Amino acid sequence: MGRVNVLSGDEVVAVLDRQTAVMEEIAAGTRLSPVLDSVVRSLEDLMPDTRCSILLLDDAGTLRHGAAPNLPAEYSAAIDGLVPGPLAGSCGTAVHLGEPVIAADVTTDPRWEQFRDLASPHQLRACWSSPIRSGEQVVGTFAVYHREPYEPDLRDTELVRRFAHLASLAVEHEHALAEREARLNADLARQSAERANHAKSQFVTALSHELRTPLQAITGFTENLQTLDLSPEQRLDALDRIRLASSHILSIVDDVLDLARVEAGSMPIDLAVVDAQVVLEESLRLIQPLADRRHVTVVSESATAPVHGDRRRLQQVILNLLANAVRFSPVASTVRVRIEVGRSSATIHVIDEGPGIPAELLARLFVPFDQLGAEAGREGGAGLGLVLARRLAEAMGGTLELTSVVGTGTHVKVTLENANG
Ligand SMILES: Nc1ncnc2c1ncn2[C@@H]1O[C@H](COP(=O)(O)OP(=O)(O)OP(=O)(O)O)[C@@H](O)[C@H]1O
Ligand SMILES: [Mg+2]
Repeated sequence: MGRVNVLSGDEVVAVLDRQTAVMEEIAAGTRLSPVLDSVVRSLEDLMPDTRCSILLLDDAGTLRHGAAPNLPAEYSAAIDGLVPGPLAGSCGTAVHLGEPVIAADVTTDPRWEQFRDLASPHQLRACWSSPIRSGEQVVGTFAVYHREPYEPDLRDTELVRRFAHLASLAVEHEHALAEREARLNADLARQSAERANHAKSQFVTALSHELRTPLQAITGFTENLQTLDLSPEQRLDALDRIRLASSHILSIVDDVLDLARVEAGSMPIDLAVVDAQVVLEESLRLIQPLADRRHVTVVSESATAPVHGDRRRLQQVILNLLANAVRFSPVASTVRVRIEVGRSSATIHVIDEGPGIPAELLARLFVPFDQLGAEAGREGGAGLGLVLARRLAEAMGGTLELTSVVGTGTHVKVTLENANG
């Protein structure tokens, strides 16, 4: 007998209406669970006195709750996690065999032996389960329960066939979406890995370049010492240059290691109450010889400022900023330093009258080794100072902000939490 004749004309229209409604839900991007609920409800409408459920196979091959809007929640919860097998009720057995299983009376059906006690309190007497397939693969089951012993007729079979197919479309659609999302995520991960890789090779290139200059100095002067007949002054000068170049390399390596540690979140930061004024005064003493050499006047105005910080790291930050201000400032200019204590935070200001930093270069300032002034004959410096200073300030729970106006000067603010706030 042809399938078409099994349903009356009116029934075919009713089925089509419901199929269309569900397809529209799928197309509108409704999530799988409410779509499966609609499939179940549609079939229950067309087959009065039934309660239906959809179970879905998970990756481990276990049947999981999919939709059962009218089955008792307690029963649904009890069969969630059903493992397919030859005697696993109607659904578990249907998956195991790959074909429909009709238990016309669960109280006598041997495949229901272990599940009878679950079903009887809820008046679930007959259960007929059909596999839902995606392609060749079984992806779940569609079960129809009756209160009384029951055998499906041809009409029932045809209705279940149609709605099981609809459920499989919904599941396939969900799988396709999940696959697309996984592909997109993989693409994003690949792109970000490529970017990181690119940044890393740029960093390595810049680092090698930065180390080459002092290494060349060391090699050159060592060779001179070995091969040339140098005067005592020339020898001292050569040794001095070797010492300078070595300490430059050492400071670059220290900065690179520090930066790598803060970036990895493994920089040991001992947060304690630290007086920023004390740290500032000490840093000023250390920077004074450089300021004297450059004839730069450093004016400071500070008050006691207990903050949450790491004394050593705070000094590293302040020294970086003072060294920049003094090194990049013109001879005979003034660098102003000030601590401003607010209610919840304290801010250290370092303000210079230097050349300022052009706006288009400001954004690159916090990129390691992006040396803005490399050709302008700057003194030493690997271009790591500001990046490191900002990361350290952040690691202490603070911030570092820099504003700069070409021709006027640069203003850096380090803000830390006020320990008395
Ligand atoms: N106060 C400033 N005035 C003018 N330019 C500045 C100032 N501070 C930083 N710059 C510019 O920004 C660049 C980056 O500064 P940063 O402190 O990060 O590195 P550096 O001083 O070159 O080297 P390092 O601090 O690692 O020894 C400097 O090379 C300089 O061109
Ligand atoms: Mg610097």
